[in-house]
Amino acid sequence: CGITAYCGKGEALPFLMQGLSKLEYRGYDSAGITTLENSQLVTIKCKGRLENLENKLKSHQLHGHVGIGHTRWATHGIPSNLNSHPHTNQDETIALVHNGIIENYRELKDELIKKGYQFQSDTDSEVVVLLLDSLYEGDLLAATQKVLKQIKGSYALCILSTLEPDHIIVAKKDSPLIIGKTNDAYVAASDIPALLEYTKDVYFLNDYEMAVLSCDHIDFYNHDGQKIEKTSTTIPYDLEAAKKDGYDTFMLKEIHEQPHVIAETLRGRIHQQHIVLDELKDIDFSKFNKVYFVACGTAYHASLCGAHVLKKVAHLPVLSEVASEFRYNDPLIDEKTLAIFVSQSGETADTLAALRLAKEKKATTLAVANVLGSTISRDADYVLYTCAGPEIAVASTKAYTTQLVLLILLAYYIAQNLNQDVHDDVIKQLQLIPQYVDNILKDEPVFAQYAHMLKDMHDAYFIGRNLDYASVLEGALKLKEVSYVHADAYVAGELKHGPIALIEDGSVVIAVATQPHIAQKTISNIQETIARGARVILLTTHHEEVKNVQNTYYLPDVEPTLQAILVAIPLQLIAYYTACLKGCDVDKPRNLAKSVTVE
Ligand code: G6P
Repeated sequence: CGITAYCGKGEALPFLMQGLSKLEYRGYDSAGITTLENSQLVTIKCKGRLENLENKLKSHQLHGHVGIGHTRWATHGIPSNLNSHPHTNQDETIALVHNGIIENYRELKDELIKKGYQFQSDTDSEVVVLLLDSLYEGDLLAATQKVLKQIKGSYALCILSTLEPDHIIVAKKDSPLIIGKTNDAYVAASDIPALLEYTKDVYFLNDYEMAVLSCDHIDFYNHDGQKIEKTSTTIPYDLEAAKKDGYDTFMLKEIHEQPHVIAETLRGRIHQQHIVLDELKDIDFSKFNKVYFVACGTAYHASLCGAHVLKKVAHLPVLSEVASEFRYNDPLIDEKTLAIFVSQSGETADTLAALRLAKEKKATTLAVANVLGSTISRDADYVLYTCAGPEIAVASTKAYTTQLVLLILLAYYIAQNLNQDVHDDVIKQLQLIPQYVDNILKDEPVFAQYAHMLKDMHDAYFIGRNLDYASVLEGALKLKEVSYVHADAYVAGELKHGPIALIEDGSVVIAVATQPHIAQKTISNIQETIARGARVILLTTHHEEVKNVQNTYYLPDVEPTLQAILVAIPLQLIAYYTACLKGCDVDKPRNLAKSVTVE
């Protein structure tokens, strides 16, 4: 979910709505706002995309100077008008928006029902507003503090009330909340892009902290309600980067930005054939006996590639785990563990929870994040930033390839530090990656053509071995995310142990074979599928003729550890064009959110 708040001298609505449009990537099941109009709360909310709310607002005149907004990704309760935020108490004196999950909401709800409260929605968030109502004794801040002591789970909250109409109370634990200062207002939102049009001066709220926003001043409080001082930070972001630049979709724009953002990610990190990661210069890598990679979704696939390369070049034991499993899998972590958390947004709740566990267990923690100042990047001991710029399309493309670049740089950097041999040639080829990616992008029509093979399919099969397996996992994810074609990725050698039962006349198999020592084996597996009627798209560096495969795309023959970056481009474009042929909403696939801030 995403939240916005405005308390100032101007009208609240323009800020709230532009902020929600920037936050729609966090969910778009429903949206709503509440503003204070002539001492009354006016709440307008509805199911579906933000444009539904915009249409509804056309028949309302809202001029209030104080307001809050919300865009939802449903966790408790279906997407519906009633479950949309903001939520208000019965006499409509208090309204709030919430991002996160109140874990003990059932108990609290039962108690409130016993006290005579009636609930309008199925959400965990409504509990907070009714609890506030029950604890309010003339001081909203004091009541908020009491509420925070009772609720368990995660929250970013913005609260507004007719009883104290000149301010908004905000609070945070485990869900992001950033406060901005403009010339005539204090504003708040879940993420920086929602603030950028208004200000670059921001305050980061830490867990258990609260703030009271007024039009011309702000007060910060700690958990115990004591006033604390905070200093603001200036964000060096460019809002222009968040526009489409003439492309039909953000996804296509972001795919085409890859040569540039990969070059940006490499910039300053290679010097005289040496990898330089100044951010990590204090780390003694010889003290680690294992490296964990933890992430979700696309970032997890980047982690799998990073782990593969690290093991190969630095000879360190590596483990990769999906963040939502990590915490519950008795991870083997101690002070000799390097734990790497990869996250585009730096806000994914599962990854953040895993990071906190690793810290408790005394691992050295390193974040690989894209969003500057994000929670994961601030909480880890060390941080490396990918330089992908704002990624708006829900399906990750440029963040993925820059994660790959940075994780490969990191692997070779660690190898260098451990005095392993790193060939000059690898470093030279790394510097040429932007050029190779640019050349592959010129073949876009080829991949658009392949998409015709997939557009009417229910299923697609992706196969690869070793590093190529990590690549096909991401290829399959991309296809299902944006085109809704059911796609699964298999280790090519495992096909014969079960999945081959699914292959029939006309099935589409997308095979990746870029690792020279094993390409021939994958090619044999391709033949097994062709013998059962499959049509194959092969992405390879292997130049010998492969019988019966009509669609072969030859990738540049670079160092095998770098191939995941190159093969990502055809896989992204195949997914993209399949989605376009099917008329899908490429940038905002159904049921997904760009950043999932609940566990
Ligand atoms: C969501 C997005 C995915 C993304 C994953 C992890 O599920 O839809 O595209 O890969 O979160 O996000 P992160 O910001 O941690 O990389």
